[in-house]
Amino acid sequence: MKSQPARRAYAVDDHRPGSGLLADVLAGLAAAPRRLPSKYFYDARGSRLFERICALPEYYPTRVELSIMRDNIHAMGLALGPNVRLVEYGSGSGLKTRLLLKHLDAPVAYVPVEISRSALAASVAALGREFPAVEMLPVCADFTQPITLPRAARAPRQTVVYFPGSTLGNFAPDAALRLLGQMRVEAGQGGGLLGGGALIGVDLVKDKAALEAAYNDAAGVTAEFTLNLLVRLNREIGADFDLGAFHHQARWHALAQRIETRIVSERAQDVHIAGQTFHFAAGEAVLVELSCKYTVEGFARLAARAGLRAAEVWTDPGHQFSVQWLVCR
Ligand code: AVJ
Repeated sequence: MKSQPARRAYAVDDHRPGSGLLADVLAGLAAAPRRLPSKYFYDARGSRLFERICALPEYYPTRVELSIMRDNIHAMGLALGPNVRLVEYGSGSGLKTRLLLKHLDAPVAYVPVEISRSALAASVAALGREFPAVEMLPVCADFTQPITLPRAARAPRQTVVYFPGSTLGNFAPDAALRLLGQMRVEAGQGGGLLGGGALIGVDLVKDKAALEAAYNDAAGVTAEFTLNLLVRLNREIGADFDLGAFHHQARWHALAQRIETRIVSERAQDVHIAGQTFHFAAGEAVLVELSCKYTVEGFARLAARAGLRAAEVWTDPGHQFSVQWLVCR
C-alpha cells in the first residue's frame, strides 16, 4: 500500500520568512523622506498587539464594522448568493468572517491569503472546526504580490473577495487602485457562472479628533504596535535601533484624507543594518503607515477607475464606517 502524502498545512505557501524584508528596509531608509512598509508590522507579536488595538475604546473601526455586519448580515447573504468561493485578503481573527460564513448559503470554499503564518494557522484551525463543510484553502502569501489562488474542489457559483478592516486604507491611491483591479480579476476568474464581486470595509472621513484618538490611544497600545517594527528589525535583520530613542506619531492630514503614522528619532543617532550606517537627525521621521479614509462618493470614484461599482453600501447610523458590495461595472 502506498503511503499517503503528508497533509499540506497550506494550499499555497509562498511566503519565505524574511524574504524581501532586508531589501525593503535598506531601500526605504535610503529614500528621502524615509519610509517602511506597514505590512511588516504583522509578526506574531505585532498581530497580537493589533488584536489588542481592535478592543481599544478609541479604535472604533473594528467595533463599528462588526456592528454593520451584524445589522445587515441577511442582506449581505442575499447579495452574495449561494455556493460562494470566499477569498479573504488578510485573515484577521475570523470574527467577521465567521459571521459571514454562517450567513452565506452553502459556501463552497474559504481561501484566506495572509502574510502572518501564526494568524493564518489560528484562524483556519478555528474556522475549519466550525465549518466542516467548507473547503479550507489557506494561502500563506503577501496578497499585494501576484499569486494564483487555489480553485475549490466543488464548482462555486461565484468568487467573492472579502477585504474587511479598511485594510485598503493602508495603500496609497495608486496601490489601492491596483489592488481593487486585482480583486476584480480574482472575482472574475475564480470559477463560477457569475462575475463575482468584492465585499470590502471602507473607513469614512470624520472629524480630526476622533481619527487622531483612534491612532493615539491613551493606553499606548498603538505606539507599542508601531515601535514593534523596530523590535522586529533588530531581531530579524540584526539592526541596532535604540528602542528608547524613537517614538510613535500619528497625525490626520486633511488634504490627503489620511492618518499618517511615523516613527520619530528623539535625538541625533546612527543605526547600523547589514554593514550600512543610517544617520538620523533629531526629530527625523520614518513614514510607516497610511490609513486613508474615504467619503462614499470618493470611494465610488476610485472603484469606478478599477471597473467596479458599489451595488450596496451599508453604514452605521453615525456614518463612521462602511461595508460595500462591489461588482463589475
Ligand atoms: C490594518 C487597516 C485595520 O490602518 O486602521 C490600527 C491598522 N494601525 N492602528 C488601520 C492600524 C494602527 C489598521 N488596519
